[in-house]
Amino acid sequence: MIIIRCEDYDEMSCTAAEYYVELLQKKPNSVLGLATGSTPLGLYEKLVEAYEDGVIDFSQARSFNLDEYYPIEKNHPQSYHSYMYENFLGKVNFQESQIPNGEAADPENECIEFDKAINLAGGIDLLLLGIGTNGHIGFNEPSISYTLATHLTELAESTIEANSRFFADGELQPRAALTMGFGNIFASKSILMLISGASKRPIVQRLLDDKIHTDVPASLLSLHPDFTIIIDREALGD
Ligand code: F6R
Repeated sequence: MIIIRCEDYDEMSCTAAEYYVELLQKKPNSVLGLATGSTPLGLYEKLVEAYEDGVIDFSQARSFNLDEYYPIEKNHPQSYHSYMYENFLGKVNFQESQIPNGEAADPENECIEFDKAINLAGGIDLLLLGIGTNGHIGFNEPSISYTLATHLTELAESTIEANSRFFADGELQPRAALTMGFGNIFASKSILMLISGASKRPIVQRLLDDKIHTDVPASLLSLHPDFTIIIDREALGD
């Protein structure tokens, strides 16, 4: 595990953006695993700027998103589909992008087809992750057993609570999601996790204590051979 410490959110986002610029220069047809949430917004902004300035080009690259609420309409303002097109995919030039389909009538089949598409693309070169305050990655919530492939899962109460800030009062909030599983995550050649803000401090302490905790899904990532964390001072608490 490599840990890159940054002064603040902006430095974290710039450092991560440099990572992508380098990767796409080396391998223009990279397959990128992408995340949503508030943490990668700064990175996406920097990547859009780099694209507009001609510094990065995604025309040969493909992307697969980690997860999507289920059920949710693609054009719902809080769907991860809307988030991705508003903040990133709609502003750059990926050859192909896939996001698990929150409208799928048969979610199990959707997951099987999604995994097939990842395999067909040659697997994920770089998977971007955030971390939930309960240690979840994607929507792999704390559990005593973890699912390998993309699957339909129920969200933890703490996740529903944490994400309620995005939904209007009284609006129906999805309680389930389609998410890549641990097999997809571990099969990714490299993993990049971004962590920012004081709310992540308690989980960061458990993540970085050199132990694997089965109730902190992200702590299992220390077993991955190419796992980098870019973290800001607020999250580290130093
Ligand atoms: C998002 C995702 C989640 C988030 C996590 C952190 O696609 O899979 O695991 O990465 O909930 O969210 P933020 O960045 O909003 O703190």
